[in-house]
Amino acid sequence: MDFTINHYEFGQRPPVTIPTQDFLALLHEEGIRKLVSDHYDLLSQSEVKHLFPRIDEALEKAKQRSSDFFIQICGGHTYYNENRGRPMLAARHSPFTIDEHARKVWLECYIEVLSKLDLPEEVIKSFWDYLNTFSYWMVNTKID
Ligand code: HEM
Repeated sequence: MDFTINHYEFGQRPPVTIPTQDFLALLHEEGIRKLVSDHYDLLSQSEVKHLFPRIDEALEKAKQRSSDFFIQICGGHTYYNENRGRPMLAARHSPFTIDEHARKVWLECYIEVLSKLDLPEEVIKSFWDYLNTFSYWMVNTKID
């Protein structure tokens, strides 16, 4: 599986294709919640740990919100809309300083957890391609 991180110019919002519903069909909700939880645990020890909640309770809530979103985007139950409303994710990320480096670290943590999944390559690729492109939408700070 090729986990190359795409390069974009600052300010670009590349077109995004949502992931295949097979990702949810094969992993199930529990699998997506575990994937997201493992991702947050890596982020909490990463070079961008300052961005994420330090208190366990807050971290658990963050895991839940993100899992709700990924289940929904993969065609599952609309937990996110029910609990948080419209995603508007670029706007929700705007209070945080997210630069190219933060995106790289965030994606690298996903590479680590996605590599461990026992799923057909095309299913992982679909999810990875989505993260690879959509993550650039959250970059809101230019590195000089
Ligand atoms: C570019 C790298 C990214 C960084 C550094 C980043 C960082 C963050 C931070 C600091 C938060 C707030 C704390 C939290 O609730 O976890 C957050 C929330 C969230 N992120 Fe990201 N994020 C990135 C990309 C993405 C992408 C690509 C997605 C979706 C595909 C995403 C989905 C979410 C969701 C659903 C939330 C919760 C929003 C809410 O409060 O309802 N993030 N992210």
